[in-house]
Amino acid sequence: MQTLINQDIALATHLLNTNQAVAIPTETVYGLAGNAFSEEAVAKIFAIKNRPTFNPLILHTHSLATASQFVQEIPPHAQLLAEKFWPGPLTLLLKKNTLISDLITADSSLVAIRIPNHPLTLKLLRNLSFPLVAPSANPFGYISPTSAQHVMEQLGGKIPLILDGGSTQVGIESTIIGFENNQPIIYRCGGISREAIEDTLHLYCQSAQHNTHLHAPGRLKSHYAPRTRLYMGDLDALLETHGNEPHAILSLTRTFNHLPASHQIQLSSKGSLQEAAHNLFASMRTLDKLNIQCILAEIMPTHGLGAAINDRLERAAHHE
Ligand code: TXA
Ligand code: MG
Repeated sequence: MQTLINQDIALATHLLNTNQAVAIPTETVYGLAGNAFSEEAVAKIFAIKNRPTFNPLILHTHSLATASQFVQEIPPHAQLLAEKFWPGPLTLLLKKNTLISDLITADSSLVAIRIPNHPLTLKLLRNLSFPLVAPSANPFGYISPTSAQHVMEQLGGKIPLILDGGSTQVGIESTIIGFENNQPIIYRCGGISREAIEDTLHLYCQSAQHNTHLHAPGRLKSHYAPRTRLYMGDLDALLETHGNEPHAILSLTRTFNHLPASHQIQLSSKGSLQEAAHNLFASMRTLDKLNIQCILAEIMPTHGLGAAINDRLERAAHHE
């Protein structure tokens, strides 16, 4: 199959109307989108991604009004967050209604919903009479794509169209928030920081990983992994252990005289965690193409988007 890369929304609309999968840009990462109301389209997405069917999909729509058509209710805390952060990198776990099939939610009674903040994709969503399911447009287990080219490298030949929306602004996936007994719980940290959620709700927000009876399927450990072995930690300590192996370094701001420029990436020379998140996945891909033994990645400060970056690095560092 020939894969086109362009901004042809009319073509994307046509393809989605005929149950094909199309890669779409969002502000977080590129998604592999299909008609959420078509079993055929949903099955195609799982197959193209090589994704286990027990891992549910996020529903993408263009307005709070349409989102509310797919759920039993939008509780007050969810409403507050939606009004503040949509369109944006926030996914809400809400009680689904019968319009949403169990294929999408992997038999859960909750559906994950978000309104992505990208002009092309918002325009596309407004053109369609159905919402889109869209997992990140990478083969299962690999680094999420933040440009049309990244999608092409891995899904080229398998899908008819990649809508080209440039390099994604936020660069890491959406923050997933659910509620239990009216209390907000972070299931995946992402493009909206914990601090921003807590400031909005005036509440402490628990993390799902500290809550052993909660299982978010998205919390599979070996996500976001490059092919090259990655170690994460304090760089000086990592260099002591692995400095003798051919390596590259991923750091926030530091530079190293013992390595050529090609083998070290500063995620943000001014130390901005937002800029670091924006650059993270593309940088991991770049270093993954070098002929080296390992990538040494610096642990980030834990505030703001640092928590989400560390989460991605930890998963990338998890070796079976
Ligand atoms: O930023 C994003 O969220 C991107 C863009 C494309 O929107 N999408 C994305 O999708 O990251 P994906 O499929 O790569 O990750 C979605 C995560 C998965 O880990 C999945 O387990 C979790 O969301 N998820 C989806 N529906 C869920 C549900 N009903 N209950 C619990 N977790 C759910
Ligand atoms: Mg993903």
